[in-house]
Amino acid sequence: MEANMPKRKEPGKSLRIKVISMGNAEVGKSCIIKRYCEKRFVSKYLATIGIDYGVTKVQVRDREIKVNIFDMAGHPFFYEVRNEFYKDTQGVILVYDVGQKDSFDALDAWLAEMKQDLGPHGNMENIVFAVCANKIDCTKHRCVDESEGRLWAESKGFLYFETSAQTGEGINEMFQTFYVSIVDLCENGGKRPITNSNASFTKEQADTIRRIRNSKDSWDMLGVKPGASR
Ligand code: GTP
Ligand code: MG
Repeated sequence: MEANMPKRKEPGKSLRIKVISMGNAEVGKSCIIKRYCEKRFVSKYLATIGIDYGVTKVQVRDREIKVNIFDMAGHPFFYEVRNEFYKDTQGVILVYDVGQKDSFDALDAWLAEMKQDLGPHGNMENIVFAVCANKIDCTKHRCVDESEGRLWAESKGFLYFETSAQTGEGINEMFQTFYVSIVDLCENGGKRPITNSNASFTKEQADTIRRIRNSKDSWDMLGVKPGASR
């Protein structure tokens, strides 16, 4: 059995899964979980110290799913605490703040931290990732647009959601799709399901789109030197 396959009592009945949250400090990880589990929002920032743990039950099709949620602190200070919790995970909620470009740029470093902790035998392909572009209610400060976030997520085979823990927008949809994908993964022998999106890109397509978006002029866009012949 794969290392991060969940513990199953009776096939087709109950299932126990482990989910973690990841992303920079203050992006809204705890608030997203709180919004879903407690239907409320706290505007005061209360940094997670190390890890917060909670258990919840959800129903997916004919299965009762017991979800163990490990909400991680994003502050670099808690690196060693986080490293105790990456293994045996079936789902990751990977969050950035659409008004903080740094938090979007940091997503690769978060994947690298997890990969490093899982070691050479850890398999990230068996994990469902839900990327949350959070704080979409703060429209004035938005600096990472939907296409950029979606491109990053879908080129990696991750789910992508626009969310606001404050208004609740996108939160239920995110959790429902996330849990269904985890159950599909378990029923699919541990292989991540194909995303349903029409806008999925291969890595090569995503790299090309990224290069075009970041090009400084038409020459750069075509990947040629200024003055190049036809
Ligand atoms: P760490 O535990 O330090 O890693 O932070 P975190 O990612 O858990 O952030 P947390 O959920 O504590 O939220 C940080 C701050 O952002 C708080 O002041 C929240 O009220 C605020 N916040 C979270 N989500 C949203 C959102 O969707 N919209 C707005 N406007 N504020 C949000
Ligand atoms: Mg937190």
